[in-house]
Amino acid sequence: LASVLLSFELIAQNYDESKVPSYILPDVLESQNKMKIANVKDWESIRRPEILALFEENVYGIMPKKFDNSNFKIKNENKLSMNGKAHLKELEISVSNNNQTVIINLVLFVPTRAKKPAATFLLINNRGKNNTSPTRDTISGFWPAEQVIDAGYAVAAFHVNDAAPDDKNNYRNGVLRLYPEQLKADNGMKAIGAWAWAASRIMDYFEKDKDVDASKVILTGHSRGGKASLWAAAQDTRFAMCVTNCSGNTGAALSRRRFGETVKVINTTFPHWFADNYKKFNDNESALPLDQHMLVSLIAPRPVYVTNASEDLWADPVGTFKSVKEAEKVYELYNVKSGLPQSIPAINMPFVKPPLAYHIREGKHDMTFYDWAQFIKTADLYFNRQ
Ligand code: GCU
Repeated sequence: LASVLLSFELIAQNYDESKVPSYILPDVLESQNKMKIANVKDWESIRRPEILALFEENVYGIMPKKFDNSNFKIKNENKLSMNGKAHLKELEISVSNNNQTVIINLVLFVPTRAKKPAATFLLINNRGKNNTSPTRDTISGFWPAEQVIDAGYAVAAFHVNDAAPDDKNNYRNGVLRLYPEQLKADNGMKAIGAWAWAASRIMDYFEKDKDVDASKVILTGHSRGGKASLWAAAQDTRFAMCVTNCSGNTGAALSRRRFGETVKVINTTFPHWFADNYKKFNDNESALPLDQHMLVSLIAPRPVYVTNASEDLWADPVGTFKSVKEAEKVYELYNVKSGLPQSIPAINMPFVKPPLAYHIREGKHDMTFYDWAQFIKTADLYFNRQ
């Protein structure tokens, strides 16, 4: 019966622009006590921390900052992988707290010919581990390591299941063993919070690896992984740039539009992703003290690359673009001009200029060689590598 009800609800989702309810977005530049935020100082000291706390409390849950210790171990290394083009390192990043240890496996390729330390793309892999094969027996557009290496970047990935299995019955068996108090709290983090936390632990490692330029790490995620890449980059300002590919509901798309996936649907289908408090907003988006444009804004003035796919209405392309446009206000505070067009660009017409880059690719919900080629262009522009 539950699955019948659920599929009924999924069918009932709105894909008709004329049925989008009218809504008022919370003003990213007005604090909760109605103060207008007009400069970087007030943004960074008042409004930014306030918004971070709102997302922690109401959506993604608390992000624990402390742990007892961490260790990095090289499991395997090949200085001549990819026909000598890359130096492969396979690492175990183990983090302990509360007498528990979690191990996050990292695959890292560093370009042999490019200048070191290298700017690095880090993927939060939410799909099959074969996509990030260290032996390169599978080559896929989801993590096109050769393409990234050829562009002169290092490329790394970890799998979400190492941090929190993506399953409502097993998500506790990972990072959450280190923070059992989170499981009891209504604002405790769950799987997506744990994935974001793991990305920061990898950043801790990058800061120690002389081949990686930790000041030039581009955190990348697709869909549920793109929700996590935004949340991680919002929290952890060490990430220089964020890519959020087809991240949709509770990623880059505006929740209040209720177009495609809604808060109720996501909380019902994936009860293990967000804090329990988020369920209060099921069919009640207008009560949220935030919307997803504010998550993008938290990354300012660092660049964010946002994408959609033409056949992926579930992720609400129009609502995603509107959200990115709203975030421009915060970049303006920093005097970083966004050149985004007024309305959503045509299909396959990428707008790659930082700080806010966007494209809608023809085709399905996926991350492809084409998408990565655009991310690389934005990173090249931002890091002056073109
Ligand atoms: C489902 C889910 C989305 C998610 C997507 C994915 O479609 O409803 O919110 O983004 O899976 O991760 O591919």
